[in-house]
Amino acid sequence: MLPGLRPFYVMEITARSKELEARGQRVLHMESGEPGAPPAPAVREAVRRALDLPQHYTPSGGIAPLRAGLAAYYEAQHRVAVPPEAIMVTMGSSAAFILAFLAAFRPGARVAVTRPGYPAYLNTLLGLGMVPVEIEVSAQSGWRLSAEDVERAYRETPFDGLLFASPANPTGAGVTGAALAAIASTCTRLGVRFISDEIYHGLDYRGPSVSAAEFDPDAIIINSFSKYYCMTGWRVGWMVLPEDLRARAMMLQQNMFISAPTLSQIAAVAALSERDYAEEQKAGYRTNREILAEGLARHGLVAANSGDGAFYSYVDVSAFTSDALSFAIALLEKAGVAATPGIDFDRVNGHRFMRFSYAGTRATVTEAVDRIDQFLTAL
Ligand SMILES: Cc1ncc(COP(=O)(O)O)c(C=O)c1O
Repeated sequence: MLPGLRPFYVMEITARSKELEARGQRVLHMESGEPGAPPAPAVREAVRRALDLPQHYTPSGGIAPLRAGLAAYYEAQHRVAVPPEAIMVTMGSSAAFILAFLAAFRPGARVAVTRPGYPAYLNTLLGLGMVPVEIEVSAQSGWRLSAEDVERAYRETPFDGLLFASPANPTGAGVTGAALAAIASTCTRLGVRFISDEIYHGLDYRGPSVSAAEFDPDAIIINSFSKYYCMTGWRVGWMVLPEDLRARAMMLQQNMFISAPTLSQIAAVAALSERDYAEEQKAGYRTNREILAEGLARHGLVAANSGDGAFYSYVDVSAFTSDALSFAIALLEKAGVAATPGIDFDRVNGHRFMRFSYAGTRATVTEAVDRIDQFLTAL
C-alpha cells in the first residue's frame, strides 16, 4: 500500500454483514450512500430498447444527445450557457476526479479538501502522487466550509487546488450560493483551481442547488447520475471543463477510459427528463431524515447539521464510545444495522462519529431506527 492510502473501514462492516446475511440474518443497510429505489421506469425502458443494438465505444466526450441534454440542464436549472463541448461524460464522478486532477495538476501538487470529507478524495490524490491538504470544518459551523477557512488554510500551507462538495458527504452540510461564490472568488484571487463536486445537487433541502458554473468559468464542475437519479451502479457522471483544460482532459479520457459505458449514457439521456421521479425520491429522503433524527434524539444524539442536503446524518456518538469502528461492529452484530464509522471520513476525530445513510426505503430506515433504539437502550 502507498504511504497514506487507507482502506475503507466500512468494507469491514460490509464483509461482516455479508457473512451474517449468508447465515440467514437480516441486515438493514445504512452504511452506503445508495438510493433504495431503482432508476426511473423510463430510464430502464430506454436501456431495454437499446439492448439489442450494437453498443460500441462512444466519442470520448460522450454521446451528442447527452452532452446537449446536459447543456440544456444548465440552462434550465442554473440559467447559465454551458456549450456541449465544455461537457465531458465520465465513468461516474470517481473517474472525473482522476481526469480533473491529472488535467489541472502535476505530481506533487497540493490539493485542499475538507476534513471530515469523502475519503476517495484523499486516496485518489495520494494514488496519483499528489498531496492532500486537509481543511478542518467543525460541528460549530454546521460543518460548512467558508471562504475565510480557505484563506486561513492557504496562508498556513499554500495549495494549488481546492476540491469541495456542497452538499457534502458525510455531513450533509450545504453552503449558500453566496458562500459558494465567496469560496470560488477566494480561490481565483489566490490562484487556486476550484473543483466543485456537485454530486448531491438536487438533494438540497433548503432550496435550489447553486452551481459554481453560474459564476466561475475557471472552475471544474463534477457531477453524476449516481445519487439524484438513483444510478450508482451505472457508472455515469460528467464534468464541465474550463476552456484551458478541455484538450488535456480529452486526451486523458481517450487513453485512460476511451468513453463512459454506452448503455449508461443512453440511460442518462432518459434520466434527465425524469426529474419528477427524482423529486419523489427526495421527498422520501426528507421523511427518512426526520424518522432517523427523532429516533437518535431519544438517546441525546443530535447531528450538528440537521441535513442541509444529501442523505447522511453524521452523529457524535462519544457519549457511547470512543471507538467508532467497534461501535459499528457491535451495532451490526447485536442489532443487525450496518452503518459507517467516522474514521472513514476523518482520520483525526472520526473515532467519535458515525455516519448513517437514510437513502434507503422508508421501511428500512424505520426498522433500523427501532433496532438502533433497542441497541442504545441496552448499552
Ligand atoms: C461526495 C462524493 N463525491 C463522489 C462520489 C462518487 O460517486 P460516483 O463515482 O458514483 O459518481 C461520492 C459517492 O458516494 C460522494 O459521496
